[in-house]
This record gives sequence, structure tokens and C-alpha cells, in this order.
Amino acid sequence: MTAFPQTIHFIGTNTPRRMELSLRNLPVEGQIPADVEGAFFRAVPDNAHAPMFDDDIALNHDGMIARFNFDKGAVDFDIRYVETERYLAEKQARRALFGRYRNPFTDDPSVEGVDRTVANTTPVWHAGRLFMTKEDGRGYEVNPHTLATVGKWDYEGKLRSQTFTAHPRVDAQTGELFFFGYEAGGLCDPNVAYCIADKDGNLVKEQWFEQPYLSTIHDFVITEKYAIFPIFPTLADLDRLKAGGAHWAHHQDKPSYIGIMPRYGDVSEMKWIEGPVGVSCFHEVNAYEDGDLVHIDLCLTNSNAFAFMREAGGVHIDQRELQGALTRWTLDMSKADPQIAERPLGPPGDLCRLADADQGRPYNRAWYLSMNPQAKGPPMLGGPVGANFNALLRIEPGNGRLTMMEVPPGAGISEPAHIPSATPGHGGWLVMVIDVPNSPNPADYSSEVWVVEADAVENGPVARVKTGLPLRSQVHGAWVSRERLDASVHH
Ligand SMILES: [Fe+2]
Repeated sequence: MTAFPQTIHFIGTNTPRRMELSLRNLPVEGQIPADVEGAFFRAVPDNAHAPMFDDDIALNHDGMIARFNFDKGAVDFDIRYVETERYLAEKQARRALFGRYRNPFTDDPSVEGVDRTVANTTPVWHAGRLFMTKEDGRGYEVNPHTLATVGKWDYEGKLRSQTFTAHPRVDAQTGELFFFGYEAGGLCDPNVAYCIADKDGNLVKEQWFEQPYLSTIHDFVITEKYAIFPIFPTLADLDRLKAGGAHWAHHQDKPSYIGIMPRYGDVSEMKWIEGPVGVSCFHEVNAYEDGDLVHIDLCLTNSNAFAFMREAGGVHIDQRELQGALTRWTLDMSKADPQIAERPLGPPGDLCRLADADQGRPYNRAWYLSMNPQAKGPPMLGGPVGANFNALLRIEPGNGRLTMMEVPPGAGISEPAHIPSATPGHGGWLVMVIDVPNSPNPADYSSEVWVVEADAVENGPVARVKTGLPLRSQVHGAWVSRERLDASVHH
């Protein structure tokens, strides 16, 4: 086919834009704080070609790396494709050659064996390098100054895992990168690689373990002592893939689990603890220790938030009927057989962020996106699950105190990034893209970047950067300070 389908994966903020461009000196309303000096990178799925199949989904689209560069109050914008093996093969052919999301049995025979990852999920910064990641393959290194693709990253040939998560965790105190890859040995392999890179970016540890079932492990958490793998019953099946079907199917009747081991320990020390049945989570906020207790805070839902993963498992729950909460799971590690104690922390939502310094440690604030119960009209169409969030929440997990930032009617919010302040006692800033509708046509909107005081989100933006363009939805973003950019490996 040569036309883009008119499904939720291609309309609203998922409308294909397919533009590589550079804009300098975007108009700014308000004042950009002096702390906001560096780059806000975004991972944007935007397929260069119409898909092979009408039931294509946004997660299957080519990764673009976008950057808002904040330079002493001026802001420049750039966006380029990540030149993955897949992108280059299709560019050469001038058409899609790769078939369904994470199903190589649906590809054009000419690309058999070519790496399928689209590097479209999270920009990751570590040890002076920028990577574009997606959990089905290794990360692609990108030059943070030119946005040119450097190539696939395998720790100078040391990494055995074929995959690298889009959600590694950096311990801000040690500078180490903790990461994993599931389906580490290839398609539907039950092995998970658990790895540590030191503060200089050297791979110092890689161990493999088998997970209890073949689940999608999208995120994990660390504490000062532990590495924690919460897993949920959305499962892969090789026979279904060979029949041309979906990679993932949600199983409403199967339990979740937590795998927990000492973070510097051996995978043989992993304890698997059974959790609630049928639940799903893509992102954990944070985890930390309080004596023998380990708290794990997660964006939990009663089923999988992606309609196509529910449908593949025969789960019939409408998107609007999904229920969930920001939830705390607590384990008492002094017990021989620790169990999960569950309590709600806040309203449902996702795309959670915390200050880098709080990673794995006791914390008293986090931010996430949710639906504003007072908003009039339907949410803006688009984004990975087909509807965009319209409220930014700041929560104090210790006492449940909530504040909310609203957006103009019908607007959508993308995941924020946190920027620390140099002023002692100041809580820093958030940057995020807001898509503001211009007309009832869901493809007609203008994308802005809002800069917000992190501890006063209810006050709204202190600065609005106007692109004048409708930008395609991101998945995740990352803030990188000027100091780190200046010290990067590539120039
Ligand atoms: Fe994610």
C-alpha cells in the first residue's frame, strides 16, 4: 500500500510529518530561566514510508531524534531520522520492507536478517554519549551536536545481549548505568541480561537469567542495595508470531511478579515474588529502602493500557474503562518469603519523572501525566495509546499532596523532563511539549515547549517556546545540561 491508514496510530498528534528540519531562534513568550541551559532531546516515532499493513501501530514507526537547544534564552529546534539499518534499507527501496510490530515473519524477504529496531523510544545520556533506544534491539548512538547517527552501540564488542532497554537507570551518586535487555538471545528467548556500565561507560557486568514467563519488561528500578524487575502478564509467543500475529498478548488471568536481587549480586540470588493477577504497568516512578522495607512506586492499571495488546489476548476492556492508580508496592526483605503489600498513592496516570538525584533513594516529589477531571471535551487524539494526557500532576508520595497544571482546552501534554536549579533550595524546572489545537481538525495544532517551575506546576509556564508547527508525538524525552554536552565524546 502507499497511503497511510486513518487509524489512531496515524491521526491527531500521530499524523505522519516526515520532516527533517532545523529552525533557529524560535519565538519565546516569557523568560527562560538561567538554569535552563542545555538540550531537551525527544524520541519521536514517525514512519518515513506508509506501512505494509493497515493495522500498523505507532510503536512500529521509525525513530526520529528531536532537540530543543536552550542557549542563553534563545531556543533552536532540530529533528532528524535515526539512521538505523531498517531506515536505510527502506530509504533505498523507497517503501516499507518491514512488516508488523516486532514480527519478522511478516517482512519482505529482501530484508531477512536485517536489524529491525527503529530506536524510537527513549533518548538516553550516559558517560558523554547519547543513545536512541528501543527495547527490541541495541541502542543507536547519535551525535548530540549534529544529530547524525554514529551507529549501533555494543560497548566496544563486549555486550552479549541483543537488546537494550529503553529504561535504564543511572545512580546519580555513583554515575553507574544499570540496564537490562529481555529476549536477550533473540526473538522469544526467555533470557534477560542484567548489566552495569561504570561512570566512564565501560561495561563491567553482564549476567543472564530466565524470567518466569515471556513477558515484556519495559522498565525496572534500582535502590541503593537492590535491582528490581517488576513483570506483568503481557506475553510473547513464537507460534503466534510465525502465524503472522501479534508479538504481545495480555493474559488477564495470570499473575504479575517482582524479581528482586542485590544490585551488585549474582542473578542466582534473584527472588521471584508473586503479585496481583491481570495487572499491567509500563513505568515505575522510583524505588527505595526504608530499613528492611523496599518501596516500589508504579503506574499500575487493571489491564494493559495498549488496546492492541489487550485485543491479542482476547481482553475486551474499552480504553475509557481502564482503571488504575499511582501505586506503592512494599516488600519486607527481613522475611524469608516477602509478600507484596499494596496501597494507592495517587490518581491514575503515566509518563512519570523524578529528579535525577532522587533515583533509587528516599524522595518526596515526582511528576506524572494524567487526565484532568474538569477538562471539557474529549482528549486530544494521538500518542502511543491513541489519546493524549491533559494534566500534569506533582505528587509528594510521602503525604499524597497533589498539585496540577492545566493546559488550554483540547491540548495534550508530552512527558516532561526535570532540570535542577543552581540556586540552593530551589526545586528546579520542568520542560515539556504541549500541543495546542488550532481548529476542530485533529491534525491542526501548534506544538510549544513550556518551561514550568517544578515545585509550582499549578502556576503554569514561566516561558512558552512556539514552534509554529504541529510536531508528531514523542514517546520519552531527556534533558542534558550544557556542561555535559560540552564534555561529550563527539563534537
Ligand atoms: Fe517507556
